[in-house]
Amino acid sequence: TQSDTQTPIKASPTLPDAQTVTQVTHYTDRLFSFRCTRPASMRFRSGEFVMIGLMGDPHPETGKQRPLLRAYSIASPSWDEELEFYSIKVPDGPLTSRLQHIKVGDEIILRPKPVGTLVHDALLPGKRLWFFATGTGFAPFASLLREPQTYVDYDEIIITHTCREVGELTYGRDLIEALKHDELLGEVIGDGFWKKIKYYPTTTREESPKMGRITDLMRSGEAFADLEVPPLSPETDRAMICGNLAFNLELKDMLEGYGLVEGANSNPQHYVVEKAFLD
Ligand code: A2P
Repeated sequence: TQSDTQTPIKASPTLPDAQTVTQVTHYTDRLFSFRCTRPASMRFRSGEFVMIGLMGDPHPETGKQRPLLRAYSIASPSWDEELEFYSIKVPDGPLTSRLQHIKVGDEIILRPKPVGTLVHDALLPGKRLWFFATGTGFAPFASLLREPQTYVDYDEIIITHTCREVGELTYGRDLIEALKHDELLGEVIGDGFWKKIKYYPTTTREESPKMGRITDLMRSGEAFADLEVPPLSPETDRAMICGNLAFNLELKDMLEGYGLVEGANSNPQHYVVEKAFLD
């Protein structure tokens, strides 16, 4: 018979803020994406980021384990019942060296407190919206590109993505291609998909149809000629920047040169820059 004084023993301790991995896709030896369950109470605005991670190794002396967390842009849109993330794999990276091995059914830690600047609320109304990404900086745009508001608010969306190699463009290219067949978005995007959405992928270290850094291609005017749009202006253009630190700073300078002003949640303006760095 059961004694009243017995304390139930848990078979295995569960992680704090645990979510379960539902899908993992590897793109290159440096890039992968995964999906996981979403806490029922978690709300966010497309473009925001959260802290995610795994339990760290036990401390050599105390044996204590602490969560190892990093800021990750949510790549899925706010209406999606799951969450998606797009990540780099760094061989000696404290988190990504382990995160890259996660499998369906594994648990990750997710602190359900989304924040961020790459949100529609931080921009004034405009005609054309530019998404400027390098590498895994495409992640917040993967969210915003699946957000109906993006197409309701703007006549034209231009996505530039600069990567070292062609394989690094796959995640973004597949996602944009899938938009064409999305029923929900099809209704808001309407006819003339490629008139409304202009995709401009470039590579810098492997041969592809368009080579070069987007910054150089804009300075020379080549990007504007290819895209058949005038250079950015504060009257018509809005922009979001997400890439490596040097890229973010260089592009920010360029946009200021076109007369665009940086916005924030509390002060919507013409452009915003990601404040969470993925590595
Ligand atoms: P590059 O190959 O000329 O360095 P990374 O993988 O190092 O984060 O870089 C991702 C992409 O961003 C690469 O194609 C890289 O080009 C490009 N890049 C790096 N720094 C800048 C910058 N300051 N301006 C524009 N593109 C950049």
